[in-house]
Amino acid sequence: MVTLRASVLGLLPLLGSVLGYANPKACSGTCTNSHDPAIIRRSDGTYFRFSTNGKIAVHTAPDITGPWTYKGAVLPSGSSIDLPGNQDLWAPDVTLVGNTYYLYYSVSQFGSQDSAIGVATSTTLDVGSWTDHGSTGIRSSSAKPYNAIDGNLINVDGTYYLTWGSFWKDIYQAQMKASPLTLASGVSSYQVAYDPVTTAVEGAFVFKYGSYYYLFYSKGQCCGYDAGLPAAGGEYKIMVCRSSSATGGYVDKNGVACTNGGGTVVLESHGNIYGPGGQGVYQDPTYGPIIYYHYVDKTIGYADGDKRFGWNTINFSSGWPVV
Ligand SMILES: *[C@@H]1O[C@H](CO)[C@@H](O)[C@H](O)[C@H]1NC(C)=O
Repeated sequence: MVTLRASVLGLLPLLGSVLGYANPKACSGTCTNSHDPAIIRRSDGTYFRFSTNGKIAVHTAPDITGPWTYKGAVLPSGSSIDLPGNQDLWAPDVTLVGNTYYLYYSVSQFGSQDSAIGVATSTTLDVGSWTDHGSTGIRSSSAKPYNAIDGNLINVDGTYYLTWGSFWKDIYQAQMKASPLTLASGVSSYQVAYDPVTTAVEGAFVFKYGSYYYLFYSKGQCCGYDAGLPAAGGEYKIMVCRSSSATGGYVDKNGVACTNGGGTVVLESHGNIYGPGGQGVYQDPTYGPIIYYHYVDKTIGYADGDKRFGWNTINFSSGWPVV
């Protein structure tokens, strides 16, 4: 039995590659400069892509397939948050709230827990139109269980929640004010996902589809592959948990609590695609629900600067997202 089980387990990665994942769909124009992308389509049909570095780099395109053109920075002078890293902004997330776009960003330094989530607003998304509001009040230090990075806003029947983190005890969430510039008064944050084995769990994105909230996140080593690859499977991959509530009770496909190491793989390395992560999910008016992410193409290069923008449609027909 032991031998049989071992040999069946040994086949699982093979089974995964036979079942396969879809390759990223078309991208033209500037498809690099897309670390931790955030996508939104404006009512005139223009797609905006925001990404880490360049004080939140902005690219636009007439379609999600491109051609993508660089437009400039969201905050050309950096963030007003008084922390090291306020000139090197990470992990944008953008949501339309009423008539105003809210863009969350992280101020942090790699490997440091002295971090904060900031927010900027615009009514048009265009470069030059953004106002920085500084910290959301979500700030971390070694005294906190989490790292205040990778914010993501969700509207739950008119109440806004920010989900963030992490490394360091992983993914947390808290209620925001009705105009979600800051935390709601008197609320506490709570953990929604935690992997006690792999501490590198981050980049959460909550997406409602049908009667479930899906908590997507990235797990593993994100960056620096050109300096040495992690052991196979240790690189970035995209995971998911789901719950009928946005604010907790997330489980994976096997029913394992996602606060206790649960999590189902949505997309991982396959073929020439390596380390997909930093994802977001978007209900696209043309393509339906899509997932977007960054990855490296092994045939191009493993450097962070080679990271490319990828996207795929998502099939939710089984109740779990399939790419
Ligand atoms: C979604 O997946 C199901 C199988 O789970 C398949 O029957 C269906 O055709 C797929 N839909 C699309 C649009 O690909």
